[in-house]
Amino acid sequence: MVQRRVKVGIVGLGHNGLAHARCHLKSGKSELVALCDRNPDLVQKAGEELGVTKLYSGDAIFADPEVEAISINTGDSQHVDPFLKALAAGKHVLVEKPLANTSDDVLRMVAAADAADRSLKIQVGYILRFNPVYEAIHKAAAEGHLGNIFYMEADYVHNLLYQKNKTDPVTGHNWYLEHELPMVGGGSHPLDIMRWIKGKEVTSVWSYANHVAFPEMANDDCMVSLFRFEDGTIAKVAALYGPRCSMAPYYNLRVYGTAGTVERDQIAISGDTEEVHPEFTPVQADRQAGHPYDTEVDDWLEAILTDSPPRTDIKDGAASTLATLIAVEAAKAGKELQIPKLR
Ligand SMILES: NC(=O)c1ccc[n+]([C@@H]2O[C@H](COP(=O)([O-])OP(=O)(O)OC[C@H]3O[C@@H](n4cnc5c(N)ncnc54)[C@H](O)[C@@H]3O)[C@@H](O)[C@H]2O)c1
Repeated sequence: MVQRRVKVGIVGLGHNGLAHARCHLKSGKSELVALCDRNPDLVQKAGEELGVTKLYSGDAIFADPEVEAISINTGDSQHVDPFLKALAAGKHVLVEKPLANTSDDVLRMVAAADAADRSLKIQVGYILRFNPVYEAIHKAAAEGHLGNIFYMEADYVHNLLYQKNKTDPVTGHNWYLEHELPMVGGGSHPLDIMRWIKGKEVTSVWSYANHVAFPEMANDDCMVSLFRFEDGTIAKVAALYGPRCSMAPYYNLRVYGTAGTVERDQIAISGDTEEVHPEFTPVQADRQAGHPYDTEVDDWLEAILTDSPPRTDIKDGAASTLATLIAVEAAKAGKELQIPKLR
């Protein structure tokens, strides 16, 4: 039987949008039918490279009846507008993380998803959930091999100083310098992984921040936050955009449970004996440092084709983004803040 293919359009054709577009060219489950970027030169170039002829530089892509599903790859502060338009037009959506970079925008997007046709599949691009290392840790935790997890920590330590050269030729603006929030754009990646591993929600947060290493950014470039989960578990996240070093392997993730520990993505200590748990050999064997776009895109297409939930649905993705936005507010307020539950 010939498999039905989902007809996909991409909005935003920077580095990330092109990575998503190339996945659709390889996938047997989709057909890349349209491309959109407000920069007409980028659309033209991408159309030639990818062999796509329907090229848009404005909102007409949302009215195109051939496009069933839209992948949104605009900057962090620019997801909300295409997201609302895609849902209003009845399209399935994969929207990049973080969902937005204000709490109001996150809540508007959740409300729009609540009001949309229930059959639409919305995936938020927390891609680390598709990295085999984190998948193995998540599985070990879900099967109880770590016991009761009581503390986790991870860092987003990434030298992003090169982003100061990323001025948009169409608008003359640079969304990184003007709007980016490291704890949200970067830190929500490890927080999302820790929420997924723990399987519980964060309820409050306390943060400290400074603005020393990347002064060209409008917002603080270094932040450390302590999150408290609903069962009392504590998680620490550091988000640095101006360190003079390359990215730490596996975000320095450490997970401490009453029956086992994950450190440096490879060590699990069972009980009191300090033996490496046999369940953890796949973690060492199947290393992948980067971003598994193919499996993330496949999960979204599979959800559409089989009417099943995607791995990171709108409320799950929104919860990781919202918690880190409140972490930024906590640093400004100089006190602990509560994080509202989304479901
Ligand atoms: N999942 C991951 O690990 C990962 C990795 C890298 C980037 N990202 C995310 O992907 C997103 C894009 O990142 P990037 O580095 O490719 O950004 P970018 O700035 O290079 O590209 C964004 C593109 O969107 C276009 N654009 C903006 N608003 C538009 C609109 N309303 N309509 C049409 N086009 C519009 C811009 O012209 C630009 O070409 C960001 O949210 C980023 O955080 C995720």
